[in-house]
This record gives sequence, C-alpha cells and structure tokens, in this order.
Amino acid sequence: MTAHWDEPLLLIPGPVMVPPETLAAMSRQVIAHRGDPFAEMQDRIVARLRRLLDAPEEAGYEVGVYPSSGTGMLEAAVAHAVEPGDRVLSCTGGEFGERFAAIAERFGAQVDRLHVEPGQVPDPETVAERLSGGGYRALLLTHCETSTGALTDVRAVAAAARQASPDTLILVDAVSSLGGAPLLAAAWDIDAVASASQKALAVPPGLGILAGSPRLLERAAASRSPRVYWDLAAYGRNRRQRRAPYTPAVNLLYAMDVALERLENEGFEAAWARHRALRDQFRSGIARLGMEPVAADACASPTVTAVRPGPGLEAGGVIAALAERGILVAGGMGPLSGQVFRVGHMGAVEPRHLDRLLAALAEIAARG
Ligand SMILES: Cc1ncc(COP(=O)(O)O)c(C=O)c1O
Repeated sequence: MTAHWDEPLLLIPGPVMVPPETLAAMSRQVIAHRGDPFAEMQDRIVARLRRLLDAPEEAGYEVGVYPSSGTGMLEAAVAHAVEPGDRVLSCTGGEFGERFAAIAERFGAQVDRLHVEPGQVPDPETVAERLSGGGYRALLLTHCETSTGALTDVRAVAAAARQASPDTLILVDAVSSLGGAPLLAAAWDIDAVASASQKALAVPPGLGILAGSPRLLERAAASRSPRVYWDLAAYGRNRRQRRAPYTPAVNLLYAMDVALERLENEGFEAAWARHRALRDQFRSGIARLGMEPVAADACASPTVTAVRPGPGLEAGGVIAALAERGILVAGGMGPLSGQVFRVGHMGAVEPRHLDRLLAALAEIAARG
C-alpha cells in the first residue's frame, strides 16, 4: 500500500488517478443484475449521463454503459452507423482520429480522411466543403485528440456539417473529453458519442459509454451490419425492463455511480471551468520554462497537453527524470513519438499536483 492515493502521481492522459471514495465504493459486495437495487443504480447512472451529455430520453436518445474500453465504443458507434460500401469522412489529427477511421474501414466503409497537422483541428468550413460533395453516410470527429492535446470545436463543425449534408451521421470520440469539456449531443445535433470511464470521469478503466440519437438508431435498425453485444436498442429495452442485457461490471458501476454523483454535485459547468483552469495553469507554467505545447492556444484541450520540452532537453529524458521523482507522464505517439511528453490534467487532478509537476520540470530544465 502506498501512503497516499496520489503517490506516485499519475498524470498520464489516461487512465487517470481515482480518488479514494470512488475506489472504496468498488469494495462493496456484488449485487445481482436482475433486481431493484441494480435497476435503480443503472437508471441513476444513465440519467446522470443523459444530463451530462444532453441526451434526453424525450428527444429519443439512448445511452448505454458497457463493460468495455473506449475503443469498443468507437467500434459500437461505427457498427450502428456504417454498412459496407458507405462513404465516410474522417477528420484525423493524430493517432485516435486514425483509429476511428481504421475501424470504419474494417466495417467496409470507403473512408476519406481530412488530415490536419498535429496540434491543429479541422475547421468547420473545410469540413462542410468536403461533405457538400454529397453521399457521405458518416462524419467521424475526435473531440480531444489525446495524442496532441487538440480539442475540436465539435459544436461549430457539427453545425456546418449538418447544414452542408443534413443526413450525414455525426459520430464523436469523446473518450478523453467527457466530463472535462462540454459535449451536448441534442443541442449540437450529434448522432453518436463514444466515451469511457478512465479519463475525465476519474473512474477505473473498464466501462464504455455510448449515446445514440434517434437518427442513429433508425439507421441501425435498417442496417445490414450486425450488432449483438453493442446493440444500443437492446440495451435500452433491457434497461426499461429493469435489467441489463448481459452481465454488467457491477463494481465498476458502483464507482461510476459515485463519480457521477460527485460531478453533478460540483456542477457540470463548474467541472468544465475547473478543467480549463488546470489547462491554463499548466500551459502558463510550461511557457515560463520555455517549453512549447503541441496544440495551438485556440484549440488547447482542457484535459490533455502534449509538450515539446525545448532545446537541450529530450522527451524521453524528461519522462524518466519525472518518474525518478514519483511523477508519471506519458510519451508521444506515432509521429510525435520521442518528441513530446503528454500530461493528463483531468478528473481528480488538482492544482497542487500540477504545481508539483511544474516544480519538477523546472528542476529538470535547470539541470539541462
Ligand atoms: C481520444 C481517444 N480515443 C480512443 C481511445 C481508446 O480508448 P481505450 O484505450 O479505452 O480503448 C483513447 C485512449 O486513450 C483516446 O484518448
């Protein structure tokens, strides 16, 4: 046992540290998933997620929580939207955008990629222009591209996309943003949101979240692509019958239940503001050290920052020196491999944790 829950200081961009009360909730005895206590907890979790995601039942949205990681939910979103031969436009600015595109290809879609440079995000006009050629079944967006720390303005891109191509389904990867940045499915007319437990929600890894619009569900019902485990309509039917379709990850749901209660008590707006403040604290701290974030200010994610350590410092060396001080950050991915270190400032991360990280970075930079 370590002395403190935040020792070592886990600041990788997921999985993130889980606070003690969430961990404690998981140690309760397992309950059966065909009884009132389970049904009440499941309803509570889904209701809270509906409010967080703006995915109301009255508007025809379905929300499911699955034993899964985020990638499973990307696959689930695609499985509801895409049939072999469909055209898909995928905005890719890093490793996770590319993963989403590759999943759609596995489902037989013809995927066109709209690439942006690492640290940049797709702009609404360009997306609209590409879509207005017509014939795109789905648009894939990554809200926070965790490999670069860039946050797409989903609201603006979705509005432009909807206008240019009203029937195109808009699917969003919100794995590293949900809870840390607003993503309002109904208000922004989003068709699928895929997310997971282990990032800004500060729940251990193992739960996936999928929200689907009535447009997505209609499309899925008519689709030739099969879905079994991921079928959102089946999840909804079972939930309304006060059970789960398959054996759920009960103890992870205990954790999700208390984490969402805490988040809602804080207030979603307040939580988003807290994440923006963590981002600003970290970005101004690294600027003072002459280090450079990969993402431009205009699209800096409130949850993740990728940092170029600057002249005289090598990313791998910085990561190792931080680890020696009990602070864990992540390395770069894909083309940024060896070039950057990545920090998750989300979930249960507090300003004092970033103070400690910045003090250690100052020491490492001074040593050279
Ligand atoms: C934006 C994004 N999408 C998808 C994934 C994949 O999620 P998982 O590792 O939970 O399957 C991640 C994980 O880091 C991510 O950050």
